[in-house]
Amino acid sequence: MKGIVFVELIRMAEAVLGEEVVDEILDEAVLETDGAFSAVGNYPCKELLTIVEAVGARTGVPVEALHVQFGHWMFDRFVDGYPAFFEGKTDGFHMLESIEDEVHVEVRKLYPEVELPRFDTERLPDGRFKMVYDSERPLHHFCKGLIESCMAHFNQAVHLDMRDYTANGRYTAEFLIQKAA
Ligand code: HEM
Repeated sequence: MKGIVFVELIRMAEAVLGEEVVDEILDEAVLETDGAFSAVGNYPCKELLTIVEAVGARTGVPVEALHVQFGHWMFDRFVDGYPAFFEGKTDGFHMLESIEDEVHVEVRKLYPEVELPRFDTERLPDGRFKMVYDSERPLHHFCKGLIESCMAHFNQAVHLDMRDYTANGRYTAEFLIQKAA
């Protein structure tokens, strides 16, 4: 996983908890690395899960909620860092449809070593939007945060329902998005 993701996770934690508390958390967490992440490095996803768990243990905030919050944070970073991907997208559904065939394709060209999920999207006849997440990494709650922020970015009020179909080490989740009345 890209070092920039770790740098952003630590920045988010520092913004909420302060630098001192985050240093303590990183010192106490059992990490393979020494807790010093470079934006240009690559680190195992397991390290990210360990840090989020350590923050959860320290703050009492459920780990899933922390992953969602990190999704919100990363979405803002993507909008700031890669505005071109958002240009010309008519709404949130259009943006989500472009992740698998456009955005992540370009990301893979820029950084061949990235670890990305696979997405299937479908516009259902009843007006709902379905997005299926499939990954070797358990980042579906992070994904939920990204999707929530994506819809908010396009000023669309929605109900988002996530169903977790994880089995045998494959992390699969179905997101159903319905426009709020
Ligand atoms: C709402 C839109 C998006 C969704 C739902 C989405 C989803 C995800 C998810 C769930 C991951 C974690 C990897 C995994 O679960 O296996 C990920 C990673 C990543 N995404 Fe996206 N993404 C979105 C937009 C973007 C945009 C706009 C960029 C712009 C460059 C981007 C670049 C990346 C990068 C660099 C990673 C890290 C890969 C790694 O560290 O190896 N994504 N994305």
